[in-house]
Amino acid sequence: PVLVVDFGAQYAQLIARRVREAGVFSELIPHTATAEEIAAHDPVAIILSGGPSSVYEPGAPSLDPKVFELGVPTLGICYGFQVMAQALGGEVANTGLREYGATDAALVGDGGVLLGGQPADQNVWMSHGDQVAKAPEGFQVLASTAATPVAAFGNAEKCFYGVQWHPEVKHSDYGQKVIENFLHKAVGLPADWNAGNVIAEQVERIRQQIGSARVISALSGGVDSAVSTALVHKAVGDQLTAVFVDHGLLRKGEREQVEKDYVESTGVRLITVEAEDVFLGHLAGVTDPEEKRKIIGREFIRAFEKVQKDLIAEAKAEGEPIKFLVQGTLYPDVVESGGGAGTANIKSHHNVGGLPEDLDFELVEPLRTLFKDEVRAIGRELGIPEAIVGRQPFPGPGLGIRIIGEVTRERLDILREADAIAREELTKAGLDGEIWQCPVVLLADVRSVGVQGDGRTYGHPVVLRPVSSEDAMTADWTRLPYDVLSKISNRITNEVREINRVVLDVTSKPPGTIEWE
Ligand code: XMP
Repeated sequence: PVLVVDFGAQYAQLIARRVREAGVFSELIPHTATAEEIAAHDPVAIILSGGPSSVYEPGAPSLDPKVFELGVPTLGICYGFQVMAQALGGEVANTGLREYGATDAALVGDGGVLLGGQPADQNVWMSHGDQVAKAPEGFQVLASTAATPVAAFGNAEKCFYGVQWHPEVKHSDYGQKVIENFLHKAVGLPADWNAGNVIAEQVERIRQQIGSARVISALSGGVDSAVSTALVHKAVGDQLTAVFVDHGLLRKGEREQVEKDYVESTGVRLITVEAEDVFLGHLAGVTDPEEKRKIIGREFIRAFEKVQKDLIAEAKAEGEPIKFLVQGTLYPDVVESGGGAGTANIKSHHNVGGLPEDLDFELVEPLRTLFKDEVRAIGRELGIPEAIVGRQPFPGPGLGIRIIGEVTRERLDILREADAIAREELTKAGLDGEIWQCPVVLLADVRSVGVQGDGRTYGHPVVLRPVSSEDAMTADWTRLPYDVLSKISNRITNEVREINRVVLDVTSKPPGTIEWE
């Protein structure tokens, strides 16, 4: 793989994704890894990410200098560029000149293999206080800006390159090109990593892991569990049984999509557990968000364990015990739980990945190295209907945490209608690609006065929470076109009798989380 060394900014994941978009497999590694550990991954190239520190500050994140002696082509970005300069004998200084945001960079000479063929002037996205004051010996300066004479450098012989700006962000006009030039032209890597190859490789791996044993999978209706289940099914066919718990907190049409469209397109053997009454029974009278989450998580496990017992008994009778459980764990989860020291528990997330460890199964996690958009691409390649792979992320506790106040069947029905209208209009307006998700939240304990026809109404408001995000860790509210907002508002207030007001949430994350509970 291409190893992306993480210096602690949120840019490292983005870099890893851009590398994959260029058709080359990449993995993240913390900057604390030693040269031997890095070499053990057999990297074809290394990219050093940006970071929030100054290289000469005491305790600044550093890199084992032996990494530069491995003979592996390396690209330094922002902080990584400065780490590289310092390690190889250049100079990093704080000149008091800072650059933030859009900046003009001019090529020096022909820009070398990294920037060659690009316009003499380009718009790049900067975020730095320090700068490389002097390039190391043997390095050529490839670009400069008004404030930063050494904004990019390269040593073609060693295949070491660096840029002060952030090529991984879309605001850098030729950013992706810089990454591609490094990978394809400087290092000479082919663009051969794609959904088709990932499927073939994973199917092979899953077969080796599972052999002839049986395996079960919990389907949530979401993208991740749908794709991981389909992958495992492709690998081992009917050795797999999928379990879908209908807890009554699902969106409109969701159960039908899973039971019909998903099963038809994948051929997966599916068992649905009817658990609406049980869930709603336990949720009666509960308004505290964390308590709701705990109840839903707990009941999910109970429902799952019930079917599991039956399945185990059946499998035993046939002499092929169930040994494996499929989980739709994604790469960001893996990275975060590895490097999440000291992260606060903001919300106790529950999903099908929240099954307890004492379930006594070995896990099958075919999406462990993948990002969400890659999972979608694989789902499409596997023929899963667009309504499922293109679907917005949906929390495990479902609509249960989108009703502020007690969760009841009647309130769920109201919210389901409003949510379906919002989703339908967003899709119709072609906005699915632009938003990350748009929760619709029912303020069930709030009422406001309205007028409809010639009568007074006293109904509930719903909140639209459209957000744009790369990874749900941070998000901004999406500036949806007014006519789309207006259409959604008109339809909801006309078609859902109990709702007489639609309001828009214009809070970024942080400080607001995406969901209201
Ligand atoms: P928050 O509200 O924490 O949400 O900003 C971040 C992302 O996570 C989703 N979410 C969940 N997903 N189980 C899940 O699988 C959960 O319990 C859960 N809670 C929130 C949320 O929809 C958003 O995409």
